[in-house]
Amino acid sequence: MIKKIAILTSGGDSQGMNALIFNIINMANIYKIETYIIKNGYCGLFNNWINKTNIWFNKNISNTGGSILGCARFPDFKNINICKISADNLKKHDINVLIVIGGDGSFKGIKKLIDIGVNCIGIPGTIDNDVAFTEHTIGFDTTINIVVDAIDRIRDTAESHNRCIIIEVMGRYCGDIALYSGIAGGADIISIYEIPLTVDEIIDRVKIMFNKNKRSIIIVVSEMIYPNIHELAKNIEKNSGYITRATVLGYIQRGGKPTAIERYRAFQMAQYVIDKLIKNKYNIIIGNIGDKIISCPIIKALNKTKKNHENIWKKFDKLKYFDLYKKKTK
Ligand code: ADP
Ligand code: F6P
Repeated sequence: MIKKIAILTSGGDSQGMNALIFNIINMANIYKIETYIIKNGYCGLFNNWINKTNIWFNKNISNTGGSILGCARFPDFKNINICKISADNLKKHDINVLIVIGGDGSFKGIKKLIDIGVNCIGIPGTIDNDVAFTEHTIGFDTTINIVVDAIDRIRDTAESHNRCIIIEVMGRYCGDIALYSGIAGGADIISIYEIPLTVDEIIDRVKIMFNKNKRSIIIVVSEMIYPNIHELAKNIEKNSGYITRATVLGYIQRGGKPTAIERYRAFQMAQYVIDKLIKNKYNIIIGNIGDKIISCPIIKALNKTKKNHENIWKKFDKLKYFDLYKKKTK
């Protein structure tokens, strides 16, 4: 029988983490499962920053951004001795299952904990959408909506001033934020982490748009591709007819109110987790395919490879630059 659970949020914060925390704690309360909160991710687990919570949230916090528990990056957790000390801290409180909300890095931490006998459940909470097992991670939908809003705003200036503007978005080693928001925001050129365009390939595309008398060009790029986005802008300006600027969206993408779908999904996932707990099921990662909540043994989930949406990017690019592709095949 699961009597006590603990929750932590790890890696970068994402919108919707509080909705998960709120729902898990309140639903656990109904089933008389005691909840403990751990401050600052794995760092807090190692330091025994674990506290019983008697909170019954009278006020719904699902509409708030960030994580009320605090998030942290704690590279020391790769060290097995640090993991063992952390596991002992959970034992001190008689905690039966640890719930980790985070991304692919955090799930590697879970794997280490399971190997030393800690029961865990992982919930994908990261803006990057870089978890192979699930269709969408909690935070991704809000982030792409923020980026689309930014693209709309930036286009106003690009159109007014007849400019080319590069927008660099987050995502680390996953191009989903750039791809989804670039397509939804009507970008002219998209360069994603998995299929990065060379500087020359970008310039070729800008020139095509210039020859079509396009008044503004919006280029959405994933971070981690171009060492200096402002140098890239100078290069484009030198080689095309456009005054070119670059904007790095940065942390604005990670904060603020989660969208309705994140809050809804958080409710669904929390309810699924509680359902598993009362059936004594753990060592799984939760995910979704459309509206359906799914789960998978952690080991299996970690071995899956993330779908990189190469086909969608190719279709987008080919439709925009058909002539370029025709030339290539000659
Ligand atoms: P995310 O979970 O959002 O992908 P990170 O990749 O930064 O974020 O991982 C969050 C934390 O997970 C790291 O700071 C570290 O504490 C832990 N972690 C990452 N990789 C490992 C690993 N190989 N072994 C153990 N813990 C890890
Ligand atoms: O994992 C979320 C994320 O925002 C990535 O998109 C980005 O590369 C990274 O975190 C930024 O990390 P930090 O919070 O350490 O600046």
